[in-house]
Amino acid sequence: MYELKEEYLTGIEEIDNEHRVLFEIAEEIYQLCENDMVPDKYDHIVNLLQRLKQYAIMHFAHEEAYMEGIQYKKLFTQKIQHDNFRRKLDTMDLEIIDDNQDQAIEDLLKFVTDWLVEHIVGTDKQIGR
Ligand SMILES: [Fe+2]
Ligand SMILES: [Fe+2]
Repeated sequence: MYELKEEYLTGIEEIDNEHRVLFEIAEEIYQLCENDMVPDKYDHIVNLLQRLKQYAIMHFAHEEAYMEGIQYKKLFTQKIQHDNFRRKLDTMDLEIIDDNQDQAIEDLLKFVTDWLVEHIVGTDKQIGR
């Protein structure tokens, strides 16, 4: 369901591979959303959120280093968008998530996938040009 599509490719292998992993985590969030066999999803949500955050932070650092290396002109815009994503994940209210788990997972999934597609297609793809 969620995967790195052809149209998301930047043409920079390291960056594309890391984007692929981010979509794999999104797919796991989707699978959790669909899974009716898990009565309490709280620990799974917290775990996925943690992994997403860690991987995204690592990816942003790599991507920003790459852009610095090629003296990329729009590095600042990139950093702002990366920070916004990081901040959004940091300020997720775990209590609210626990109160309404299915809605929380759905919201998280929508936020993550919308952000990834929009940022990759609208911003990251320009790096490779
Ligand atoms: Fe980026
Ligand atoms: Fe990226």
